[in-house]
Amino acid sequence: MQQTVTFPSGTVHYHFQSSFAELWTRYDKEHAVIITNEYIAKQYAKLLKGYKLLVIPVGEHSKNPHTITFLAKELLNMEATRKTMLVGIGGGVVTDIVGMLGSIYMRGVPFGFIPTTLLGMVDAAVGGKNGINVGLHKNILGAVAQPRFILYDPRFLDTLPDDEWSNGFAEIIKCACIFDAELFAELQKNNISYYKDHNDDALQVLIQKCVALKNKTVVEDEKETGLRKLLNFGHTAAHAIENLYEIPHGKAVGIGMVIAARVSSQVAGLNEHVVTDLEELLGRYHLPISLKIDAKKAIEIMRMDKKRSGDMMDYIVLEKIGKAAIRSLPLTAIEKALFDYESDN
Ligand SMILES: NC(=O)c1ccc[n+]([C@@H]2O[C@H](COP(=O)([O-])OP(=O)(O)OC[C@H]3O[C@@H](n4cnc5c(N)ncnc54)[C@H](O)[C@@H]3O)[C@@H](O)[C@H]2O)c1
Repeated sequence: MQQTVTFPSGTVHYHFQSSFAELWTRYDKEHAVIITNEYIAKQYAKLLKGYKLLVIPVGEHSKNPHTITFLAKELLNMEATRKTMLVGIGGGVVTDIVGMLGSIYMRGVPFGFIPTTLLGMVDAAVGGKNGINVGLHKNILGAVAQPRFILYDPRFLDTLPDDEWSNGFAEIIKCACIFDAELFAELQKNNISYYKDHNDDALQVLIQKCVALKNKTVVEDEKETGLRKLLNFGHTAAHAIENLYEIPHGKAVGIGMVIAARVSSQVAGLNEHVVTDLEELLGRYHLPISLKIDAKKAIEIMRMDKKRSGDMMDYIVLEKIGKAAIRSLPLTAIEKALFDYESDN
């Protein structure tokens, strides 16, 4: 199934329920360079044979300026020009790096994504935010630029480990919290196995629903001056925790949402039973809700957050399930939530 969405910075062709082979009926293999990680390169070696390929190490620590320099040098060695199309095949780490590189190599070349994790399919590959980390600071260098295409080949999910399914569901639950109470209720009725093992159609509908909800927001506010900030629900604490403890993005977002829901019940009138419902739902999708954290260290990192302005921070709260809002909160309110979380765990 094909869909085209036009954002201020470009038009993206979505190829849902498609296949890697189908891509090359539309794009020229000779002008393409595939960038992927060591796992995908090995696991899918047969599929990728015969394509120009650049491979980076697995993991978040690859998302740094050295990888960009390494890849740029390799592209120069391959004599890649402004006509070259970069194709990122992988999870959010690969697509973030390829989007960033595509935005700046020779001041911008076309690029496209084939997300291979659930998290990548519903979130990381979608929306045109591309970024890399500098030291402990997440996505501090970045660019907003849309890929030419995002192609969904469900075969990649066959090799996805259970843990990565959970990580993907963190972003799906986030999407439900922010935009869609019905989706939240659907998730409460089901579990990972329902989508993964028994109901491929339901999974495809779920993926497309999350993509549509995210795109609706991004079309209106691509540069994140307002509405798009809602998508950061749970991410303020998540980014700090993620880098301090090297836990995967999805799990950090789960914990970040618990902290944000608790803040919401204190400052935005969120009913306390919703906090419990959210914790239960995260547990249902095998996402941890408790973690031993050093609140002081998390706060130090949080203070570097792009959303901070002096002693205030734009923080995403939930008023109810399906309705998020942006509040400018004093840093002390968020710091208190982190100290409370530390002492509860
Ligand atoms: N740009 C955005 O809007 C956005 C949004 C959300 C997250 N992100 C970023 O995405 C990253 C997290 O993405 P992720 O969770 O996909 O992590 P990831 O890219 O590190 O992938 C997770 C793991 O799954 C493995 N993997 C990937 N595809 C596989 C497959 N088909 N079969 C088996 N294993 C596979 C990877 O090798 C890796 O070990 C973070 O860096 C986060 O900041 C970006």
